[in-house]
Amino acid sequence: MAENPAEERLRLLSEAEAFKREFERKLTPIECLSPRSPAVFISVGGGELGDLALTAAGRLLGGANGGVRTVVFDRYEGFPAQDSADAYEIFDMLNGDMLEEAVKKYIPDPDEPHAIYLEIERVDTFRVCKLGIEDGYRVASTPYGPLICMDRHMTKLMFDRLNLPRVEWAYAGSPEEIRKAARDFNLPVIIKPLMTSSGHGTTIAHQWSDVEEAYDFAVKHARGKGSEVVVERFLPELKSQGTEITQLVVRHFDGDGKIVTSMLPPVEHRRPGATYHESWLPATIPEEAVRKCQESAGKIAEFIGGLGIFAVEQFYVEGKVYNNEVANRPHDTGMITRWMLNLDEGAVQLLSTLGLPILKRDLELARSGVYGVAHVVLAPKRENHREAPVKCWKLWEVKRYMEAEGYQGDLWYFGKPAAYPGRRMGLAVAFHENLEEARRRAEEIAHYTEDRIFYG
Ligand SMILES: Nc1ncnc2c1ncn2[C@@H]1O[C@H](COP(=O)(O)OP(=O)(O)OP(=O)(O)O)[C@@H](O)[C@H]1O
Ligand SMILES: [Mg+2]
Repeated sequence: MAENPAEERLRLLSEAEAFKREFERKLTPIECLSPRSPAVFISVGGGELGDLALTAAGRLLGGANGGVRTVVFDRYEGFPAQDSADAYEIFDMLNGDMLEEAVKKYIPDPDEPHAIYLEIERVDTFRVCKLGIEDGYRVASTPYGPLICMDRHMTKLMFDRLNLPRVEWAYAGSPEEIRKAARDFNLPVIIKPLMTSSGHGTTIAHQWSDVEEAYDFAVKHARGKGSEVVVERFLPELKSQGTEITQLVVRHFDGDGKIVTSMLPPVEHRRPGATYHESWLPATIPEEAVRKCQESAGKIAEFIGGLGIFAVEQFYVEGKVYNNEVANRPHDTGMITRWMLNLDEGAVQLLSTLGLPILKRDLELARSGVYGVAHVVLAPKRENHREAPVKCWKLWEVKRYMEAEGYQGDLWYFGKPAAYPGRRMGLAVAFHENLEEARRRAEEIAHYTEDRIFYG
């Protein structure tokens, strides 16, 4: 970054906005799907979220014979979506040269119908986005989208440019700068590296003397050049009195060939720590709050533009909505859409990015009168912190248990070949008309399942 990081990033935001207009002009819907020259959909990253999009190509469109060829990349043998795609490659996706080569292998001509979905952040995002900006590849939603969303500073500047509510924040390049920039915030403050996810490198500082250590921790865990952080006022009331929302919103073609912005119902979620733990549909926030969440999400989606899903993370506390961050892709909290919406977020990503139709009713709730809660199934914490291969898991036992308890629900086992402690291995789902009961049941199924996966 240049001398003035904010100026540099604001310039990039303006560049993104100008680029979007040109980019959108060139996007066209696919009117005719052909097995002779299938459109190519690449998922860069093949975890459960990639799997959701890739399997939709088979389920909804007949796969390559229906005119959509799917390709997936990941870094290890046996990744969840490996056998869901028509082709796969295994390599380190942080290696830009390999990534570019792999994209060009499957999409030699960027004028042919295709879409590239960046499923995870641990890839050379700059290189893929450069392919979009310079060579005309259709990186979803636009080639600038993932760049804006992976950089907290740029995301915050975008919020401010769009006048969206957010927690007080400041940029800092050193512990002194944190103290100076955040001196008007009340303690505690939260210090986050510019580029991370799943809470890596984040610390809540309760006293100003904690700042030094928090800064070093952020720098150590940052991806890319790591001397920069953002500091935010921490909202302790979020966990005690508030709730968290992921507002999913999609840019897609309508029947008249125009790109429009449509809302999915807001997903609500809670997390005891920093990472995804449980989420549900429908959300319980008041209508007025839904309106605020959707208004912000709509402005963000229209600013970044292009085609595809955006997941806008928001905090709801005491009647106020705060925008936290944005993922320009499907979101882990949104996996519950698989059971609760007519189309899940993976299918919505696939269809929208390729320029295939999405109707209003596709985005509506599929079940009424119940809450659907998804709860993570995690690998056990172990003393030695080492990765262990999965030996077997017992679906029959889980299903018998659900039946005996009279629980309505489901289990999605991701099929990861090995697990480090705390790794997400699956998702347990429960339905009930009472939300607290649905949450309790989903958690119970999740823990029961955790004891029926055997490692070693
Ligand atoms: N300013 C804040 N006040 C209160 N809680 C916060 C604040 N910022 C973050 N949190 C809590 O920490 C969680 C993770 O924060 P954030 O989304 O910014 O980080 P992340 O590393 O990108 O995590 P993830 O990848 O899981 O989204 C939030 O969902 C929220 O529970
Ligand atoms: Mg987050």
